Amino acid sequence: MTSIRSMKEIEKIHEACKVVAKCHKHIKPFVQPGITTMELNDIAEKFIRDQGGIPEQIGYMGYPYATCTSVNDEICHGFPGKYKLKSGDLITIDTVVNLEGWLGDSAWSYAVGEVSGKVKKLMETTLKCLYLGIEQAVPGNRIGDISHVIQTYAEGKGYSVVRDFTGHGIGRVMHDGLAIPHFGKPGRGPRIVPGMVFTIEPMINTGTWMCKIDDNGWTARTLDGGLSCQYEHTIAITEEGPLIMTLQEDEPWNKK
Ligand code: MF3
Ligand code: CO
Repeated sequence: MTSIRSMKEIEKIHEACKVVAKCHKHIKPFVQPGITTMELNDIAEKFIRDQGGIPEQIGYMGYPYATCTSVNDEICHGFPGKYKLKSGDLITIDTVVNLEGWLGDSAWSYAVGEVSGKVKKLMETTLKCLYLGIEQAVPGNRIGDISHVIQTYAEGKGYSVVRDFTGHGIGRVMHDGLAIPHFGKPGRGPRIVPGMVFTIEPMINTGTWMCKIDDNGWTARTLDGGLSCQYEHTIAITEEGPLIMTLQEDEPWNKK
């Protein structure tokens, strides 16, 4: 089971989440053709430390970097490195911040330079999947309601949903009890109750949902070389519904 958090604890997690949200906003203008994924990682890491946070991913089960930078057919856990982004690329940057022992987690996807209509549509659909999932995260619903709405929407657009990685409870540790699959049946799984804190982080592919893992033991990429996109928020369940704690100032949710 995942921990049920008091409002005070949720406020602490929210502070960590705000650093993650600001980090994504900070990094966005740097995501341009010519920059390497390691340079992006270093910008993010410096930003997190300057805000008084600790990059929680470093050393997590041996993971070496502050961020995951997953490009094109990479689904998640891409290692930052010498790769120079080029116009048309799709990159997901994922990071977890520890602020005074409390954690926030968010991944965001960025278009590099001019991207194709195919990339734009995949990005739009994936963000919509996240938002539809969040709308289901209300007290009384079940986790399967989140899973189902995401799968139905993604597959309805002709995409597939990654099965090997799920959302998760989060708080003092990165993975706190609960798993939130992005595929499944409505009315199934744990009941959603106030005080739960978890991530929703759909990974949506243009081709097959199946993946293979690189020799580094971490990086998951699509088996068929198709594109993969991901957006992730950390949310808290309140009596009134979901509170998006990693919400960015200018993201589309605010304009709904
Ligand atoms: N932030 C990731 C998640 O959404 C975890 C990355 S695994 C790590 O669950 F090893 F890179 F930390
Ligand atoms: Co994450």
